[in-house]
Amino acid sequence: MLYVSKRMTFSSSHRLFNPEFSDEKNVAVFDKCNNPNGHGHNYTIEVTVAGRPNPETGYVIDLKKLKMIIGKEIISKVDHKHLNHDVDFLSGIIPTAENLTVVFWRILSAAITEGELYRIKLYENENSFVEYHGEKTEITVFK
Ligand code: NI
Repeated sequence: MLYVSKRMTFSSSHRLFNPEFSDEKNVAVFDKCNNPNGHGHNYTIEVTVAGRPNPETGYVIDLKKLKMIIGKEIISKVDHKHLNHDVDFLSGIIPTAENLTVVFWRILSAAITEGELYRIKLYENENSFVEYHGEKTEITVFK
């Protein structure tokens, strides 16, 4: 098996809060990330596709094509957006890196048709990142 990866970046703002918590509890749990008007991150997403090279092209998946899929399905929807307000597929979801990664997985696993989505790594900054391999995961959607 071979593993082919594409790394892309986007910049977004978000606010971490749970609408079912009191203001005090939101501050206690999310601290600075609960800032009412949000805050920003320069995210990096790394998408890895596993497969065997196509005998006619030598590609598991053409990286230009993988870049196009990530750009269309994810980057164009989240870059320079407020994740709590501007993105349909994140509506009602606490936009932690964990939850974003699970939602991105659902979208990309359906959109990638050559090879198979193997891993998503989502960096909020150089030193903080989430890694996911698509294990069944429930995330809470608030009304
Ligand atoms: Ni944050």
